[in-house]
Amino acid sequence: MKIAIVGLGYVGLPLAVAFAEAGHEVIGLDTDPRKVEGLNAGKSHIEDVPDAALAPLTERFHATTKRAELASCEAIVICVPTPLTSSREPDLTYLIDSATALSGVLTEGQLVVLESTTYPGTTRERLQPILEESGLRVGEDFHLAFSPERIDPGRTDYTVKTTPKLIGGITPSCTERARELYSLICNEVVVLSSPETAELSKLLENIFRSVNIALVNELAQLCDRLEIDVWEVIDAAATKPFGFMRFDPGPGMGGHCLPVDPFYLAFKAREHDFYPEFIELAGKVNQTQPAFCVERIERALNEREKPVKGSKILLLGLSYKAGVGDIRESPALKIAKRLIELGGDVSYHDPHVPHASELGLDSVLPSEAIEEADVVGILTAHPELDYEEVVSTARLVVDFRGVTRGIDARNLVQL
Ligand SMILES: NC(=O)c1ccc[n+]([C@@H]2O[C@H](COP(=O)([O-])OP(=O)(O)OC[C@H]3O[C@@H](n4cnc5c(N)ncnc54)[C@H](O)[C@@H]3O)[C@@H](O)[C@H]2O)c1
Repeated sequence: MKIAIVGLGYVGLPLAVAFAEAGHEVIGLDTDPRKVEGLNAGKSHIEDVPDAALAPLTERFHATTKRAELASCEAIVICVPTPLTSSREPDLTYLIDSATALSGVLTEGQLVVLESTTYPGTTRERLQPILEESGLRVGEDFHLAFSPERIDPGRTDYTVKTTPKLIGGITPSCTERARELYSLICNEVVVLSSPETAELSKLLENIFRSVNIALVNELAQLCDRLEIDVWEVIDAAATKPFGFMRFDPGPGMGGHCLPVDPFYLAFKAREHDFYPEFIELAGKVNQTQPAFCVERIERALNEREKPVKGSKILLLGLSYKAGVGDIRESPALKIAKRLIELGGDVSYHDPHVPHASELGLDSVLPSEAIEEADVVGILTAHPELDYEEVVSTARLVVDFRGVTRGIDARNLVQL
């Protein structure tokens, strides 16, 4: 098959590679010319796709900024960002722009699939009318479906191939075309009754995580007051072989999905005079966690008779999760900004984030910085660092990720 992937980011690029590795011809369309140039020169901008994975695919995969190339493809999969506006409402600009560009070149017989996470109704109410501006009719002249991406960047045990793929088409023939497409690369395709069901299933998966993370973050704040080790409590509860699923506390929730997706559902719910309080409460609790972490660092310094102002504060990890360089919505940024506002002399080390333009800082080398810092805050559990050594070299360590569990040291404070 000849397949186009629109948006070559964390979601689109691994998908493009999966189709190309399965022997299909793949065109990747992206509006960012640097990414396109890089990919065509064999350079990947996504950790999960090493350059070596692109090298054998040069015959079957190329990137482009020209939407006209979509016209010759049998299937087009849209993986563009779905962020929030500054007033925390769904920002469908990227989706609408890509759909508008596609409607100008849509041809009879094509299958279009949306993978971007969004609220129920987007595929039918927003995407379909734009594509039908082409004069073609869905279910008759072209097919349209929603299939959420479930990728977890940095994860190697579950891949595009081994993670079941949900699909929901506008018509039964749309669903059938989408099933055929994903059967090319996925071991299991799960057929749903509509795009809305598929859209909401994805939101449920992410909101489930958001709610459970909020629960353990709140518990961590309570344990701090009760002087109980939250990690020991979670380890203990996790020994139950049924009815409990482990979630770990941390400095707050980050990434492009978990902090964003609940707002997509809340937006849709409001259109129906419904206020999903439970979901919004989870978002609220998670948003308080960075402030709690700042206060914990302040308290740890205070116990050593130091104010934040003027103290050297080294933050280990800036990305929102271990092993990736994605800093979108990362709680570490909020923590760093607040400490800078309080007058802290803040630096950071992150092997995956060489520059942080939001903070005007570059990653420093850890060896000397750890020794010189008044306090070291562990914000991301990157596997590259030896945390035993960090504790043995630093004056004071505050660990928000539980990576120093098992270490008993007077200079160590744990969440
Ligand atoms: N990152 C994840 O872990 C993850 C997991 C599951 C689902 N999702 C969802 O997938 C979607 C994409 O997320 P991502 O993390 O891959 O985003 P990303 O920012 O990494 O990649 C999106 C790409 O789309 C390109 N783009 C923007 N507008 C475009 C347009 N009009 N035409 C062509 N290309 C365009 C951007 O240049 C960028 O390269 C989002 O809806 C997200 O919520 C993300």
